[in-house]
Amino acid sequence: MSRPIKIAPSILSADFADFGREIQAIEAQGADWVHVDVMDGHFVPNLTFGPPLCAAIRPHIKTVMDVHLMIAPVDPYIDAFAKAGADIITAHLEAGPHIHRTLQAIRAAGCKAGLALNPGTAPQAAAPLMDMVDLICVMTVNPGFGGQSFIESQLNTIAALRAMIGDRPIHLQVDGGVTPDTAPRIAMAGADVLVAGSAVFRGGSVADPAPYGANIRAIRAAAETATGAAA
Ligand code: DX5
Ligand code: ZN
Repeated sequence: MSRPIKIAPSILSADFADFGREIQAIEAQGADWVHVDVMDGHFVPNLTFGPPLCAAIRPHIKTVMDVHLMIAPVDPYIDAFAKAGADIITAHLEAGPHIHRTLQAIRAAGCKAGLALNPGTAPQAAAPLMDMVDLICVMTVNPGFGGQSFIESQLNTIAALRAMIGDRPIHLQVDGGVTPDTAPRIAMAGADVLVAGSAVFRGGSVADPAPYGANIRAIRAAAETATGAAA
C-alpha cells in the first residue's frame, strides 16, 4: 500500500552553534518535521540537550517538533518538554518499568505520544500499547549517535509493526541509518516517517542549504518510488 512519506531531519547532525537558522533552512528545503534527539548520557552513551534548548528552537519550527527522548527516567521531564513546545514526545519502552504510565502522562500533558523500540526489543512488546500511542519509532541503529549503519534485520520489526497497527491512526517512524539507499526497503516494510540526520545535512550548510533540499528529495523519492506513492 503506497502512503505519503514524511521526512524528519534530526538536528543531531546540524550545526550546534546555529540551530535556529539550521531549522529554518531544512524547513525551507522541504523537511516535514524536525526531529530533536534528547540524550542524557545515562540511557544512551551521549549527552545532547534538554527542555531549554527545545524552548529556544520552538519559535523557529513551523512544522512539527518531534522530540525523541533517549533518557531514563522519562516521567519527571514530560511536563518540561511539553511546556517547551513539543508536538510529539517519544519515550523508549526500555527506559523504565512503567511505559504505560509514561504514555498516559505524555498525552495528559497535551502532546502526541510516541513509543520507541531499540533494536533488541521485539515488536510484540508494543501490542499492549497500541491504543496508547500516536507514533511508533523503530530504531534501526543502537541509539546515541548519528552516522551509524542501518541494521537490516529491523526491516522485520517494521513490517511486523505495520501489520499490528492495522487501520489505527499511528505513524510508523524509522530512525537511524536512513539514506536514499535504505529508504526503499524501509518504506516497503511499511514506515511512513523517515528520520535522517547525516543523510540530510551532508554537504550543506546554513550558507548553502541547497544540498539539504536535494538530500531530502532524494530520500523521499527513493521511498515513494519503491511504494508507488510518488506523484
Ligand atoms: C540516534 C538518533 C537518530 C540519529 C539519526 O540515537 O535517535 O535520530 O540522529 O542519525 P543518522 O540519520 O545519521 O543515522
Ligand atoms: Zn532520533
